[in-house]
Amino acid sequence: MEGLLKGKKGIIFGALNEKSIAWQVALKAHEHGAELVLTNSPVAIRMGNIKELAEITGSKVISADATSMKDIEELIAEAMKIFGGKFDFILHSIGMSPNVRKGISYEQTNYDNMLKTLDISALSFHRILQTCYKFDAINEWGSVVALSYVAAQRTLYGYNDMGDAKALLESIARSFGYIYGRDRKVRVNTISQSPTPTTAGSGIYGFDALYDFSDRMSPLGNASAQECANYCVTLFSDLTRMVTMQNLYHDGGFSSMGMSFRAIEQYIKSFKDCK
Ligand SMILES: NC(=O)c1ccc[n+]([C@@H]2O[C@H](COP(=O)([O-])OP(=O)(O)OC[C@H]3O[C@@H](n4cnc5c(N)ncnc54)[C@H](O)[C@@H]3O)[C@@H](O)[C@H]2O)c1
Repeated sequence: MEGLLKGKKGIIFGALNEKSIAWQVALKAHEHGAELVLTNSPVAIRMGNIKELAEITGSKVISADATSMKDIEELIAEAMKIFGGKFDFILHSIGMSPNVRKGISYEQTNYDNMLKTLDISALSFHRILQTCYKFDAINEWGSVVALSYVAAQRTLYGYNDMGDAKALLESIARSFGYIYGRDRKVRVNTISQSPTPTTAGSGIYGFDALYDFSDRMSPLGNASAQECANYCVTLFSDLTRMVTMQNLYHDGGFSSMGMSFRAIEQYIKSFKDCK
């Protein structure tokens, strides 16, 4: 199926490099006919290669720190100028934990760091929604999606305070989803994605082991960034108009599993190695 986003306009947050989930979403959305504005923090624009993505997709890049109300307001106003009015979709693909980065464990958390984690990874979503609501920036039946992880519901060692941030992110999607749906018919959802080898993902302690475990546990295996991009396109499209306030698992079945044959086999092997 082609052209699902023909005539639609959207803002993509968080494309740092080719590995970024947001990068793949931008490519797919462009392929399906969408007009895009790309945004990231000033440092990410300097260090990453978002300009390359802008060239491929024929998009403008606007710098904005997602923790700054001023930056977000200027971004939304500027995007509306570029689009010539309202737009149709947003991807929030932003996550960062200074505690994870600095290797500070959850039981020894630094609260300044934790507040930054929540601000960058979750409150930024509220900030974006609030600004769009205030500016009446999104068309009726528009769609806002943020990327989450199953650590919002279950404890996964090493995910640290990002688990708290994801729980808040998903809660914001429900709380704002009610208001935005009721008042403007805009839908708000989160996608809970498999572990994916990106810059942020690889920063998690033991990421390779987590990736392998998740793959073995999932009947369909881990979902890739490209597959996540396909799912995002369906959620931006008119085919999913009545879906809102949901956390949607895109994880090959991981979230419903307890133990799989492939994981048991690996576990048995490790017992043999011990003997
Ligand atoms: N990689 C995974 O395993 C995985 C799994 C599930 C969910 N996710 C989520 O997907 C999203 C995208 O992450 P990714 O894995 O593509 O990694 P990534 O490192 O490519 O993307 C993270 C992005 O967040 C941006 N960011 C950080 N601080 C910011 C700020 N202050 N203002 C604006 N942008 C800021 C970074 O510049 C970067 O572009 C995140 O929300 C992440 O938690 C990732």
